Amino acid sequence: MDHFLYRDGQLMAEDVPLSDIAAAVGTPVYVYSAATLLRHFRLFDEALAGMPHLVCYAMKSLSNVAVLKLLGDAGAGMDVVSAGEYLRAKAAGVPGDRIVFSGVGKTRQEMRLALEGGIRQFNVESEPEMVALSEVAVCLGTVAPITVRVNPDVDAKTHAKIATGKSENKFGIPISRAREVYAMAASLPGLKVIGIDVHIGSQLTELAPFEAAYLKVAELTVQLRADGHEITRLDLGGGLGIPYVRDNTAPPLPSEYGELIRRTVGHLGCEIEIEPGRLISGNAGILLTQVIYVKSGEDREFLILDGAMNDLIRPAMYEAHHDIVPVAEPAPGHDRVSYDIVGPICESGDTFAKGRMMPKLADGDLVAFRSAGAYGAVMSSEYNSRLLVPEVLVQGDHFAVIRPRPTFDEMISRDTIPSWL
Ligand code: LLP
Repeated sequence: MDHFLYRDGQLMAEDVPLSDIAAAVGTPVYVYSAATLLRHFRLFDEALAGMPHLVCYAMKSLSNVAVLKLLGDAGAGMDVVSAGEYLRAKAAGVPGDRIVFSGVGKTRQEMRLALEGGIRQFNVESEPEMVALSEVAVCLGTVAPITVRVNPDVDAKTHAKIATGKSENKFGIPISRAREVYAMAASLPGLKVIGIDVHIGSQLTELAPFEAAYLKVAELTVQLRADGHEITRLDLGGGLGIPYVRDNTAPPLPSEYGELIRRTVGHLGCEIEIEPGRLISGNAGILLTQVIYVKSGEDREFLILDGAMNDLIRPAMYEAHHDIVPVAEPAPGHDRVSYDIVGPICESGDTFAKGRMMPKLADGDLVAFRSAGAYGAVMSSEYNSRLLVPEVLVQGDHFAVIRPRPTFDEMISRDTIPSWL
């Protein structure tokens, strides 16, 4: 459930008409609902009730500092994958002992930054990374708490570009080699092994792949303990999918996912961490755009929007489906038209949907892309020298711009012309 519903013929973000936001901020613009973000975080938190746990929001999905503050104040931890994300979490007031550092290629500078600023744990992904982290920690006179990310060789049954748990993927160390890698970790002076990490992919719509992975982690926990390691924490990753197509079968609920965790690893007495991103932020955001032109092609109608692939790249990059709805509620029994929905960018890849049945629209109409909160604004760019898309946060009947649209001057003045030109 989200908080983008029609009321009095208008699509609302909570209690704010989206047309008010378009009038005040212009389009394209991302709009987030605070109530939806909090609701989704709490669903995960409640799903793990009774087990010691921390829900570490995967901030790569939506990393605006205002959103991080909202979730951090509600008790969320953060899963970060870069120095920039670490500093954003800190800027939002999240304490280091609630920040987990993931990622396959952490640099020594990033390790140092997190060790100095405070960190809950590093999820390390390779032997050379272990050596580097141990050296950095020793140099700073400290010890880095770590889990090792294992690759369980499980098919997540998701889009190939976002599957991470098969042996052919770059992530983690093969679970078959886990015992020797843990032995090596234990021998390094700057590391303290505290647990195991796994993450098999994103937008998973079934529980079975999670179950296969978590059962392997449970078995490994027993083996590693027998080898003398203290395994007190399991980081089970993120990845639970959301419904992008409204009429499709719904992915499992956080409560069902929580039950699965309890059943597969609950008996081990470990503290549980999860790293959900998309399920917290995805349906908490929309991309609000305006129709520039309705253009008739030879055999089709094009809906040309002011939003483009640089603002929302998921359809171009993953063939992703986003529901696209008019802001003015269509009248009952309205005519429907098939549109190719495109942006103004100069390549045919700038296509959001082909042959999409929509109510008849005209120049100037507002349309909203649903489920755009996750991997939307964070993946935007200035391609075609379009201004970076702004962001708005709604709470109840008020809203605030949480990232303004830059000016053309700001964009252009970042470039510098060398003196010899
Ligand atoms: N933990 C780790 C280690 C991850 O790599 C990811 C996502 C997550 C947690 C969060 O997964 P989520 O709960 O959001 O599924 N740009 C793509 C998605 C890339 C996901 C990358 N890793 C998209 O737009 O579909």
